[in-house]
Amino acid sequence: MNTQADISDDTYRESMGQLLVLYTQVDLLIMEICAERIADAPDEAARLALAKQVGDESRHVAIQRDWMEKFGTDTAPVITPKQQDVIRAHFRGLPWLEFLADMYLCVEALGSEAVENIVPLADPGTRESLHVPLSDELDHIAFGVSRLKQELAQLPEEARQAFLAMIPQRIEALMEAFLGLGLDVRNLFECVGADYRALCNAVLKRRDEVLEQVAA
Ligand SMILES: [Fe+2]
Ligand SMILES: [Fe+2]
Repeated sequence: MNTQADISDDTYRESMGQLLVLYTQVDLLIMEICAERIADAPDEAARLALAKQVGDESRHVAIQRDWMEKFGTDTAPVITPKQQDVIRAHFRGLPWLEFLADMYLCVEALGSEAVENIVPLADPGTRESLHVPLSDELDHIAFGVSRLKQELAQLPEEARQAFLAMIPQRIEALMEAFLGLGLDVRNLFECVGADYRALCNAVLKRRDEVLEQVAA
């Protein structure tokens, strides 16, 4: 049970509000990016999974928007329209395998890990608002991991190993790009009671786990 979150504390409220805005904006971007991918996805299983995800993310956005309204903090976007364009363009330009790695191993798995680490620190309303989204994200990660494994199994062993070896660099580049958005994420996390170092370690541990799953 959380004993730290004090919704009457302005610093907590504002910082949690910003994190909620960020999560909602990321979900909305994922929804748009995955929707764009449906028509060109390699087969029906992929199209169905992407379409389901689009519906899930749309629901997450609705749940979060509803909660943010009740929470009553600033809902102005924290990712600027220009930054959103850069993010969309990045994913739009990716071949299928690179898309799977960046979207599911990085954005979905590591993003969820960060949010999951916030849940125990959050006030009850925020915690409740994250319940359905985080449970759906597990589905999305499972799709990404299994699909990437399946695709890599079709490649010659050398090419498979080369792709696997490249994934940590892809993740690092995306994490750097995320930190480069100029949001003071460290401060936001610390203001809601997170130990930033422990949170980063948890994210890195999750990265190692998903990499192991894909390589297995
Ligand atoms: Fe989501
Ligand atoms: Fe998701």
